[in-house]
Amino acid sequence: MNNLELRSKILKLKEEKQAIILAHNYQTLPVQQIADFTGDSLQLSRVAAELKQEMVVFCGVQFMAETAKLLKPSAKVLLPVKSAGCPMADMITGEQLRQFKAQYQDPVVVCYVNSSIEVKAESDICCTSGNVIKVINSIPTEKQILFVPDRNLGSYAAQQTGRNIILWQGFCNVHENITEADILEVKSKYPEYKLIVHPECRPEVVEMADFAASTKGMIDYVKDHDKVIVGTETGLFYQLQDKYPEKKLAPISERNICVNMKKTHLEDVLRSLQQEEFEINIDADIAERALRSVENMLRIK
Ligand code: 13P
Ligand code: SF4
Repeated sequence: MNNLELRSKILKLKEEKQAIILAHNYQTLPVQQIADFTGDSLQLSRVAAELKQEMVVFCGVQFMAETAKLLKPSAKVLLPVKSAGCPMADMITGEQLRQFKAQYQDPVVVCYVNSSIEVKAESDICCTSGNVIKVINSIPTEKQILFVPDRNLGSYAAQQTGRNIILWQGFCNVHENITEADILEVKSKYPEYKLIVHPECRPEVVEMADFAASTKGMIDYVKDHDKVIVGTETGLFYQLQDKYPEKKLAPISERNICVNMKKTHLEDVLRSLQQEEFEINIDADIAERALRSVENMLRIK
C-alpha cells in the first residue's frame, strides 16, 4: 500500500472508531501529517487532559502514551509500536529513586516527564522542558530539590533559576551526542544563522546557543527568524522545513536521530487502529500517585 492508500484507510477507520491521533514533533513527517494534533510533551499532556475521544492512538514513545492514559483514564490509549521507549526514562527506577530520596531530609523531587510511571509515583511534581523553569520556581526556596532523570535539563533549570538542584545522572543519548565540535562546524558553514537547541543538550552546548527551549519553543522561535540552525532530533527539523520552505534552516547534524521516535510508520498507525493495539494499562494504585505529580505540574500556568 502506498502512503495515500494508507492515509485514506487510517482516516476512515479513525472516523468509524471516533479515535484521535496524537503525535510528537519528532515523529516522521507522514505520521505528523496524519495526526489530529502534533506538539511537544507539555502540549500533548494538555490535549490529553481535555480529550473527548475514548480512543487515542499515540504516536510517540511509551512515557508519552502513559501520561495520556493517566490524564484520560477512561480512554483506550494505544501505542502503535510496543518497543518505542525512551532510554533516558529507563535510567532511573522507582527503587533507585526511593534510595536517592532517602539520602536527603524531606526533599522535593521533580521528575522530567520522560520517566516511568513508578518514578512519577515517587515524585512530588513532574515537569517538561516547556515548563521546567516555572516548576522549579514554584518550589519554596528553603527546600532541597532533587531532579531526575535528566542531568542536562536539570542543570539548565538550575542555571536559569539560580537554585541549587541535586541531579540524577541520566541523559538523552541523542542530545548528549551533540558536541561543541558539531556547533563550531555548523557555525562555520552558516555564520549568520541563529543557533537554537533543546535543553536536553550538554550545558556547554546550551551555553553556545542563542536560544534553548522545548520543541514547541523552538518552533515558535523559527516563526520569527529566517536563518536558524536547529539543534535537536531531526524530526523537528523536517517539520520546520516542510512548514517554512522559504526559510533558511540547517540541522545541527543529520545524525541526531531518536530511533524510538522513528519506529512508528503509517502501517503501524493503521494496524494499531485495526487491532486496537498496544493498549496502555496502568495499575490503579500507582496511577493515582503518578497522576498527582502530573496534575501538580499542569496546575502551574
Ligand atoms: P519536548 O517536550 O521538548 O518536545 O521534548 C521531548 C523529548 O523527548 C525531547 O527529547
Ligand atoms: Fe528519549 Fe531522547 Fe528520544 Fe526524547 S529524543 S524520546 S529524550 S531518547
